[in-house]
Amino acid sequence: MFHSKYPDYSRMRDRSKRNIPKFVFDYLEGGCFDNIAVEANRRAFRNIKLAPQYLKPFKGCDLSTTLFGKTYQAPFGIAPIGLQGLIWPNAPVILAKAAKDHNIPYILSTVSSDSIETIVNIAEENAWFQLYNPVDETIQDAIFSRLKACGYKNLVVTVDIPTFGFRPNDIANGLTMPPKFSLNNFIDVCRVPKWGLSTLKHGIPRFKNLEPYMKERKLDLPEMMRIMAMGKVDVDGLKRIRDKWPGNLIIKGVCSKVDLNLIKEINADGIIVSNHGGRQLDASESPIELLNKITPGDLPSNLQIMMDSGVRSGVDVATALASGASFTFLGRFFMYAVSALGNKGGDHAIELLNAQLTQVLEQIRCEKPSQLSEFIVK
Ligand SMILES: Cc1cc2nc3c(=O)[nH]c(=O)nc-3n(C[C@H](O)[C@H](O)[C@H](O)COP(=O)(O)O)c2cc1C
Repeated sequence: MFHSKYPDYSRMRDRSKRNIPKFVFDYLEGGCFDNIAVEANRRAFRNIKLAPQYLKPFKGCDLSTTLFGKTYQAPFGIAPIGLQGLIWPNAPVILAKAAKDHNIPYILSTVSSDSIETIVNIAEENAWFQLYNPVDETIQDAIFSRLKACGYKNLVVTVDIPTFGFRPNDIANGLTMPPKFSLNNFIDVCRVPKWGLSTLKHGIPRFKNLEPYMKERKLDLPEMMRIMAMGKVDVDGLKRIRDKWPGNLIIKGVCSKVDLNLIKEINADGIIVSNHGGRQLDASESPIELLNKITPGDLPSNLQIMMDSGVRSGVDVATALASGASFTFLGRFFMYAVSALGNKGGDHAIELLNAQLTQVLEQIRCEKPSQLSEFIVK
């Protein structure tokens, strides 16, 4: 059962704000430029309506959802978040464990503070890996070898960072590459001693996936980030990855009709329609709006269409599925939960979403998430 003090996103967010330093909260909360895309993501959800079918027979609902041949307990998962361990110490481990216990996917970011090997030991087959494509193909090969050796089946390639997002709060707070730790940030940390002590206990967060390559090549962080994240992810780059990766290939960050059209050339297994939670392009279309513009036949029938960006509750999960997604991911929702409730945050977030989504399905009389498209008001 979820914690009754935090029955929604905004209460978790408010608690998180009191628990973590301001520069960390700003990093988690912020979009880019004027936060227009973040707001647009929310506005778009508000415009989608579901039509209840009260007069129809109803046998009860079951949230379980099958994706790439595996049945998860619900149609949502944990989106990749870079530097998760900076936001809350040990967050990757807390969330990976919750994902395993509740049987939902956990996507590990390339720039996570925990390693490929650590996370798969915890989340087992619920661990997916998100790749920022390295410029240097030998690093890409090394990462693929590690993923294969420990049994990852799902590779999520993020395509929406051709440049680093322009985030005024992070710039003003010195959260740049390399980070500048100012006196203000220090004062900020003193305000939240629990976070500070816990960070010391778990160790200052490091890019554990990348460290081996940084050490080998004696690269500093900015150069490493460029080499790690700026490899080609146009159609040719993705085709090369397709040739090398035998498991499921999922393209994350598709957010325009042009890219939806080009995706057919790649033979991917799935896409995550996403605008990175509004953190890259402030003039971006919101994923939920784009989903509603896709018509049957636009995309190959075997391509799994997933989405993220702006999902804040069970009703948002339901409207995203009603709009044509087969699965949704949430980023900030899980991070606010962990930074509000610590070790219990992952379980809380999943149990809260389960309760909310169940309420919506029972309310509209929908038995399975896969039937939600029959309930959308056109
Ligand atoms: C603090 C933060 C860090 C993120 N880091 C990554 C990352 O390393 N890789 C990635 O593909 N997406 C990253 N994202 C984007 C998320 O995976 C996801 O697309 C986004 O959070 C969804 O929007 P939401 O936060 O409104 O749910 C990050 C998002 C946030 C908020």
